[in-house]
Amino acid sequence: MSYRDQNRRAWDRLAADNSQFTRVATDEECAQPLLTLDSRGWLPASVRGLDVLCLASGGGWQAILYASAGAHVTVVDLSPGMLRLDEREAEKRRLSIRTIEASMDDLHELSDESFDIVHQPVSTCYVPRIAEVYREIARVLRNDGLYISQHKQPTSLQISDRHQSNEYILGVEYYQSGPLPPTADTSYRESGASEYLHRWEQLVGELCRAGFVLEDLVEPCRADPKARPGHYRHRGRFTAPYVRLKARRICESRSIPGTTGVWTPDA
Ligand SMILES: C[S@@+](CC[C@H](N)C(=O)[O-])C[C@H]1O[C@@H](n2cnc3c(N)ncnc32)[C@H](O)[C@@H]1O
Repeated sequence: MSYRDQNRRAWDRLAADNSQFTRVATDEECAQPLLTLDSRGWLPASVRGLDVLCLASGGGWQAILYASAGAHVTVVDLSPGMLRLDEREAEKRRLSIRTIEASMDDLHELSDESFDIVHQPVSTCYVPRIAEVYREIARVLRNDGLYISQHKQPTSLQISDRHQSNEYILGVEYYQSGPLPPTADTSYRESGASEYLHRWEQLVGELCRAGFVLEDLVEPCRADPKARPGHYRHRGRFTAPYVRLKARRICESRSIPGTTGVWTPDA
Protein backbone atom coordinates (compact mmCIF):
# COMPACT_ATOMS: atom_id res chain seq x y z
CA MET A 1 0.00 0.00 0.00
CA SER A 2 1.37 3.49 -0.82
CA TYR A 3 2.24 5.90 2.01
CA ARG A 4 -0.69 8.07 0.95
CA ASP A 5 -3.24 5.25 1.10
CA GLN A 6 -1.88 4.03 4.41
CA ASN A 7 -1.92 7.48 5.99
CA ARG A 8 -5.34 8.39 4.61
CA ARG A 9 -6.69 5.25 6.21
CA ALA A 10 -4.84 5.87 9.50
CA TRP A 11 -6.06 9.48 9.74
CA ASP A 12 -9.62 8.61 8.81
CA ARG A 13 -9.54 6.15 11.69
CA LEU A 14 -8.04 8.74 14.07
CA ALA A 15 -10.77 11.18 13.03
CA ALA A 16 -13.50 8.60 13.64
CA ASP A 17 -11.98 7.69 17.03
CA ASN A 18 -11.96 11.34 18.19
CA SER A 19 -8.18 11.37 18.67
CA GLN A 20 -6.50 14.33 20.39
CA PHE A 21 -5.98 15.85 16.92
CA THR A 22 -9.72 16.28 16.44
CA ARG A 23 -10.08 18.85 19.21
CA VAL A 24 -11.93 21.65 17.43
CA ALA A 25 -11.60 25.38 18.13
CA THR A 26 -13.67 26.54 21.10
CA ASP A 27 -15.77 29.73 21.38
CA GLU A 28 -13.10 31.26 23.64
CA GLU A 29 -10.37 30.46 21.10
CA CYS A 30 -12.46 31.84 18.23
CA ALA A 31 -12.91 35.08 20.18
CA GLN A 32 -9.09 35.56 20.10
CA PRO A 33 -8.08 33.60 17.02
CA LEU A 34 -4.67 35.08 16.32
CA LEU A 35 -3.53 34.89 19.93
CA THR A 36 -4.66 31.26 20.01
CA LEU A 37 -2.87 30.38 16.78
CA ASP A 38 0.26 32.34 17.43
CA SER A 39 1.46 33.05 20.96
CA ARG A 40 4.86 34.11 19.59
CA GLY A 41 3.74 36.98 17.43
CA TRP A 42 4.87 35.47 14.14
CA LEU A 43 1.67 36.43 12.30
CA PRO A 44 0.87 39.95 11.11
CA ALA A 45 -1.39 42.06 13.38
CA SER A 46 -4.32 41.21 11.12
CA VAL A 47 -4.95 38.42 8.61
CA ARG A 48 -8.29 39.86 7.43
CA GLY A 49 -8.60 39.46 3.67
CA LEU A 50 -5.37 37.46 3.36
CA ASP A 51 -5.28 34.14 1.48
CA VAL A 52 -4.26 31.41 3.94
CA LEU A 53 -3.49 27.78 3.14
CA CYS A 54 -3.93 25.49 6.15
CA LEU A 55 -1.84 22.58 4.93
CA ALA A 56 -2.41 19.08 6.33
CA SER A 57 -4.43 20.73 9.04
CA GLY A 58 -7.80 19.03 8.96
CA GLY A 59 -9.52 18.57 12.30
CA GLY A 60 -11.44 21.79 12.87
CA TRP A 61 -8.83 23.92 14.56
CA GLN A 62 -6.40 26.01 12.45
CA ALA A 63 -8.81 26.65 9.55
CA ILE A 64 -11.63 27.69 11.86
CA LEU A 65 -9.38 30.11 13.73
CA TYR A 66 -8.00 31.73 10.56
CA ALA A 67 -11.52 32.04 9.13
CA SER A 68 -12.72 33.55 12.44
CA ALA A 69 -9.94 36.13 12.04
CA GLY A 70 -11.26 37.10 8.60
CA ALA A 71 -8.83 35.24 6.33
CA HIS A 72 -9.81 33.50 3.08
CA VAL A 73 -9.04 29.92 4.07
CA THR A 74 -8.20 26.85 2.00
CA VAL A 75 -7.59 23.59 3.87
CA VAL A 76 -5.67 20.79 2.18
CA ASP A 77 -5.60 17.39 3.85
CA LEU A 78 -5.23 13.78 2.76
CA SER A 79 -7.98 12.52 5.04
CA PRO A 80 -11.64 13.10 4.15
CA GLY A 81 -12.49 12.34 7.79
CA MET A 82 -10.29 15.19 9.04
CA LEU A 83 -11.64 17.58 6.37
CA ARG A 84 -15.24 16.80 7.34
CA LEU A 85 -14.49 18.17 10.83
CA ASP A 86 -13.43 21.51 9.32
CA GLU A 87 -16.55 21.59 7.15
CA ARG A 88 -18.79 20.73 10.10
CA GLU A 89 -17.26 23.42 12.33
CA ALA A 90 -17.31 26.04 9.57
CA GLU A 91 -20.98 25.38 8.94
CA LYS A 92 -21.73 25.55 12.65
CA ARG A 93 -20.05 28.96 12.88
CA ARG A 94 -21.28 30.20 9.48
CA LEU A 95 -17.74 30.58 8.23
CA SER A 96 -16.70 30.10 4.63
CA ILE A 97 -13.73 27.81 3.92
CA ARG A 98 -12.56 25.77 0.92
CA THR A 99 -11.53 22.16 1.55
CA ILE A 100 -9.40 20.08 -0.83
CA GLU A 101 -8.45 16.43 -0.47
CA ALA A 102 -4.85 16.21 -1.66
CA SER A 103 -1.37 15.22 -0.57
CA MET A 104 0.98 17.96 0.61
CA ASP A 105 3.65 16.85 -1.86
CA ASP A 106 1.36 17.36 -4.87
CA LEU A 107 -0.65 20.60 -4.74
CA HIS A 108 -1.38 20.80 -8.48
CA GLU A 109 -4.96 21.93 -7.78
CA LEU A 110 -3.58 25.18 -6.35
CA SER A 111 -2.32 28.02 -8.55
CA ASP A 112 1.14 29.55 -8.40
CA GLU A 113 1.57 32.49 -6.00
CA SER A 114 -1.97 32.31 -4.67
CA PHE A 115 -1.38 32.50 -0.89
CA ASP A 116 -0.01 35.03 1.60
CA ILE A 117 0.40 32.51 4.45
CA VAL A 118 0.88 28.74 4.59
CA HIS A 119 0.35 27.22 8.05
CA GLN A 120 1.30 23.57 8.49
CA PRO A 121 1.00 21.66 11.76
CA VAL A 122 3.08 18.52 12.38
CA SER A 123 2.65 16.41 9.26
CA THR A 124 5.77 16.33 7.06
CA CYS A 125 6.65 13.06 8.87
CA TYR A 126 3.94 11.39 6.74
CA VAL A 127 5.73 11.89 3.42
CA PRO A 128 9.07 10.38 2.37
CA ARG A 129 10.53 13.44 0.60
CA ILE A 130 10.18 16.76 2.42
CA ALA A 131 11.82 18.65 -0.48
CA GLU A 132 8.73 17.99 -2.61
CA VAL A 133 6.52 19.57 0.05
CA TYR A 134 8.75 22.64 0.32
CA ARG A 135 8.85 22.99 -3.48
CA GLU A 136 5.06 23.01 -3.66
CA ILE A 137 4.72 25.52 -0.82
CA ALA A 138 7.31 27.79 -2.44
CA ARG A 139 5.30 27.64 -5.66
CA VAL A 140 1.91 28.55 -4.15
CA LEU A 141 3.21 31.33 -1.84
CA ARG A 142 3.45 34.91 -3.04
CA ASN A 143 6.68 36.82 -2.76
CA ASP A 144 7.32 37.70 0.90
CA GLY A 145 4.73 35.10 1.95
CA LEU A 146 4.95 33.52 5.38
CA TYR A 147 5.37 29.79 6.00
CA ILE A 148 4.76 28.64 9.58
CA SER A 149 5.31 24.93 10.22
CA GLN A 150 5.91 22.39 12.94
CA HIS A 151 7.81 19.13 12.46
CA LYS A 152 8.86 16.07 14.42
CA GLN A 153 12.55 16.24 15.40
CA PRO A 154 14.74 13.41 14.12
CA THR A 155 16.19 12.44 17.51
CA SER A 156 12.71 11.94 18.91
CA LEU A 157 11.80 9.69 15.97
CA GLN A 158 14.98 7.67 16.56
CA ILE A 159 13.84 6.61 20.05
CA SER A 160 12.68 3.02 19.95
CA ASP A 161 12.37 1.93 23.56
CA ARG A 162 12.99 2.71 27.23
CA HIS A 163 15.62 0.84 29.23
CA GLN A 164 14.84 -0.71 32.61
CA SER A 165 16.63 2.20 34.29
CA ASN A 166 14.35 4.57 32.34
CA GLU A 167 16.97 5.72 29.88
CA TYR A 168 15.72 6.11 26.32
CA ILE A 169 17.21 4.02 23.55
CA LEU A 170 18.08 5.47 20.13
CA GLY A 171 17.30 2.32 18.18
CA VAL A 172 16.56 3.87 14.78
CA GLU A 173 19.51 5.00 12.67
CA TYR A 174 19.84 8.70 11.87
CA TYR A 175 20.30 7.82 8.19
CA GLN A 176 17.17 5.66 8.18
CA SER A 177 15.48 5.72 4.81
CA GLY A 178 12.03 4.38 4.07
CA PRO A 179 9.19 4.15 6.56
CA LEU A 180 10.10 4.05 10.25
CA PRO A 181 9.97 0.58 11.80
CA PRO A 182 7.38 -0.09 14.51
CA THR A 183 8.85 0.70 17.96
CA ALA A 184 8.06 -0.39 21.50
CA ASP A 185 7.93 3.25 22.65
CA THR A 186 5.04 4.81 20.72
CA SER A 187 5.04 8.34 22.19
CA TYR A 188 4.81 10.98 19.48
CA ARG A 189 3.89 8.35 16.86
CA GLU A 190 0.41 7.80 15.41
CA SER A 191 -0.87 4.26 15.29
CA GLY A 192 -1.27 2.78 11.81
CA ALA A 193 0.50 5.68 10.07
CA SER A 194 3.55 5.38 7.84
CA GLU A 195 6.12 7.87 9.13
CA TYR A 196 9.49 9.11 7.87
CA LEU A 197 12.49 10.62 9.60
CA HIS A 198 13.75 13.88 8.08
CA ARG A 199 17.26 14.88 9.13
CA TRP A 200 18.12 18.47 10.08
CA GLU A 201 19.85 18.92 6.77
CA GLN A 202 16.50 18.12 5.14
CA LEU A 203 14.21 19.97 7.56
CA VAL A 204 16.17 23.21 7.37
CA GLY A 205 18.60 22.84 4.45
CA GLU A 206 15.92 21.84 1.95
CA LEU A 207 13.77 24.72 3.17
CA CYS A 208 16.52 27.23 2.36
CA ARG A 209 17.20 25.55 -0.99
CA ALA A 210 13.51 25.84 -1.90
CA GLY A 211 13.77 29.64 -1.68
CA PHE A 212 12.89 30.40 1.95
CA VAL A 213 14.70 32.47 4.53
CA LEU A 214 14.41 31.14 8.07
CA GLU A 215 13.33 33.93 10.43
CA ASP A 216 12.85 32.04 13.69
CA LEU A 217 12.99 28.55 15.20
CA VAL A 218 11.54 27.34 18.49
CA GLU A 219 11.32 23.98 20.24
CA PRO A 220 7.92 23.67 21.98
CA CYS A 221 8.63 22.25 25.45
CA ARG A 222 7.01 18.93 26.32
CA ALA A 223 9.08 18.29 29.46
CA ASP A 224 7.50 17.92 32.88
CA PRO A 225 9.94 17.34 35.77
CA LYS A 226 7.17 15.54 37.67
CA ALA A 227 6.13 13.22 34.81
CA ARG A 228 6.47 9.51 35.52
CA PRO A 229 8.47 7.18 33.23
CA GLY A 230 6.26 6.03 30.38
CA HIS A 231 4.45 9.36 30.14
CA TYR A 232 5.18 11.38 26.97
CA ARG A 233 6.18 14.37 29.10
CA HIS A 234 8.80 12.21 30.84
CA ARG A 235 10.29 11.39 27.44
CA GLY A 236 10.03 15.09 26.58
CA ARG A 237 12.57 15.80 29.35
CA PHE A 238 15.23 13.94 27.37
CA THR A 239 14.59 15.10 23.84
CA ALA A 240 12.36 17.78 22.33
CA PRO A 241 9.75 16.13 20.08
CA TYR A 242 8.97 19.10 17.86
CA VAL A 243 10.51 22.09 16.13
CA ARG A 244 8.50 25.09 14.89
CA LEU A 245 9.82 27.17 11.99
CA LYS A 246 9.00 30.63 10.75
CA ALA A 247 10.16 31.09 7.16
CA ARG A 248 9.67 33.72 4.47
CA ARG A 249 9.35 33.08 0.74
CA ILE A 250 11.76 35.29 -1.14
CA CYS A 251 11.22 35.24 -4.91
CA GLU A 252 13.01 38.43 -5.91
CA SER A 253 16.34 40.08 -5.22
CA ARG A 254 16.22 42.08 -2.05
CA SER A 255 18.50 43.96 0.30
CA ILE A 256 19.34 42.11 3.49
CA PRO A 257 18.60 44.48 6.42
CA GLY A 258 21.79 45.64 8.10
CA THR A 259 23.99 44.99 5.09
CA THR A 260 24.78 46.93 1.98
CA GLY A 261 24.76 43.86 -0.23
CA VAL A 262 21.95 42.60 -2.42
CA TRP A 263 21.17 38.90 -2.16
CA THR A 264 19.82 36.98 -5.13
CA PRO A 265 18.45 33.54 -4.26
CA ASP A 266 19.51 31.86 -7.51
CA ALA A 267 23.00 33.38 -7.68
C1 LIG B 1 -1.19 16.15 13.44
S1 LIG B 1 -2.55 16.26 12.31
C2 LIG B 1 -2.71 17.98 12.18
C3 LIG B 1 -4.08 18.45 12.37
C4 LIG B 1 -4.53 19.08 13.61
N1 LIG B 1 -5.51 20.11 13.25
C5 LIG B 1 -3.53 19.68 14.58
O1 LIG B 1 -3.68 20.81 15.00
O2 LIG B 1 -2.60 19.02 15.00
C6 LIG B 1 -1.77 15.82 10.79
C7 LIG B 1 -2.67 15.92 9.58
O3 LIG B 1 -1.89 15.61 8.44
C8 LIG B 1 -2.73 14.96 7.51
N2 LIG B 1 -1.90 14.26 6.51
C9 LIG B 1 -1.19 13.12 6.63
N3 LIG B 1 -0.53 12.87 5.48
C10 LIG B 1 -0.83 13.86 4.62
C11 LIG B 1 -0.45 14.15 3.28
N4 LIG B 1 0.38 13.37 2.59
N5 LIG B 1 -0.95 15.28 2.71
C12 LIG B 1 -1.82 16.07 3.38
N6 LIG B 1 -2.21 15.83 4.65
C13 LIG B 1 -1.71 14.75 5.27
C14 LIG B 1 -3.59 14.07 8.36
O4 LIG B 1 -4.76 13.65 7.70
C15 LIG B 1 -3.86 14.97 9.57
O5 LIG B 1 -5.05 15.70 9.40
